[in-house]
Amino acid sequence: MAYSRTTRILHSLIALTITFQLIVSLVMEPPKVDRPMSQASAFWFEWHEWVGLAAMAVLLVSWIYRLANFKREGQAKLFPWVNAAGRKGLMTELRMFLTLKWKALPDTGPLAGTIHGLGLLIATAMAVTGSILYIGLWPDNIVTANVNNMMDVHSTLATVMWVYLYGHIIIASWHQFVGHGSITKMFSWR
Ligand code: HEM
Ligand code: HEM
Repeated sequence: MAYSRTTRILHSLIALTITFQLIVSLVMEPPKVDRPMSQASAFWFEWHEWVGLAAMAVLLVSWIYRLANFKREGQAKLFPWVNAAGRKGLMTELRMFLTLKWKALPDTGPLAGTIHGLGLLIATAMAVTGSILYIGLWPDNIVTANVNNMMDVHSTLATVMWVYLYGHIIIASWHQFVGHGSITKMFSWR
């Protein structure tokens, strides 16, 4: 199955912004309860804020597009478990996975779709908690108890996002390698 042009463009924007966010989080110095922001340490954190808000906007457009096209071919595949036929397909593929019939697993089946759907949910949860942090920190970057708690949620989700990104790239490369052409299909600009 080829992905629609809109899906491919939105996916590239999501991949770029989320990967940027994860990498920049390694070098930025966010405000802390006992450490007010200095001008110098604010630079990369400000990038994190702006790109995070951009990611939120891209994800919002993605969700509107997904929900508007839910019934059309391919679009419902991210959440196959919402109906009985999808749940049955998912169980069949799970059994194939557990019995190591990996090569027979399609790249666009209910199992891959479910994982992709979870990835979209984690990215959205990061963007939503980040946007709440943006509002909570505005205008002086003071870390209150509530903001601190939200930072803990945001950081916990970050670990899951890293695991998803690594797993997603490894499995996409594997599908490409066994001949499903996943990367070619997703990043083709026709
Ligand atoms: C999709 C969007 C976003 C992603 C993927 C993301 C990702 C991350 C990651 C990976 C960390 C490091 C967590 C850690 O190592 O503990 C982090 C920390 C942080 N992010 Fe974001 N972020 C996003 C949006 C935002 C936005 C819009 C803000 C706005 C203020 C924000 C504020 C923060 C803050 C304050 C921290 C520090 C948390 C702490 O150290 O406890 N993030 N983010
Ligand atoms: C953390 C950021 C990312 C998120 C949240 C994400 C999310 C998604 C989602 C939701 C899909 C399914 C699209 C659909 O079925 O409509 C997908 C597919 C895909 N993604 Fe990502 N993606 C991310 C980063 C990446 C990166 C960096 C690459 C580069 C290798 C990549 C490669 C692919 C490929 C090749 C597919 C097609 C899968 C297939 O047909 O086997 N993604 N991704």
